Amino acid sequence: MPVVATRCTCADRERHGVDPIGSETYHEPYEVLSAETREMHRAIVSLMEELEAIDWYQQRMDGCTDDELREILRHNKDEEIEHAMMTLEWIRRRSPEFDHEMRTYLFTDVPILRAEEEAKGATGEDGAAEDTAKAPGARAERDASASDKHTEEDHSLRIRSLRT
Ligand SMILES: [Fe+2]
Repeated sequence: MPVVATRCTCADRERHGVDPIGSETYHEPYEVLSAETREMHRAIVSLMEELEAIDWYQQRMDGCTDDELREILRHNKDEEIEHAMMTLEWIRRRSPEFDHEMRTYLFTDVPILRAEEEAKGATGEDGAAEDTAKAPGARAERDASASDKHTEEDHSLRIRSLRT
């Protein structure tokens, strides 16, 4: 049974009405968790809360019939996006794995599955070769070289291969 160790300290908790289980409990005994893990837990739960709030505001906007209220909800939703990205950036700065994946998949124009293929190609089948995704400018070069290669046909082939 999870140990109840802390309550969520998110500043927006009251406004969000969010009470996720993850902010109420740890899944391992509190005393075995490092300070780093506890802080990362706080960040991850906060990010989850922000993303949930964005989803809620978006749905309320769709259901809203008052134009002024809809714009207030939009403003609030956009602020939650800012909060979420600030938290995500905090996570990136402390997690080399998040940093690596974000450098691979974010801010590219290539199809997302192609970004994965290219990242695997850069590291080799066993992942032991040099990681060019981290090299300065590597992403921009990859974007430029990959955008011309992609066709609808190879995209559909890739989707099919994922389903098998
Ligand atoms: Fe927020």
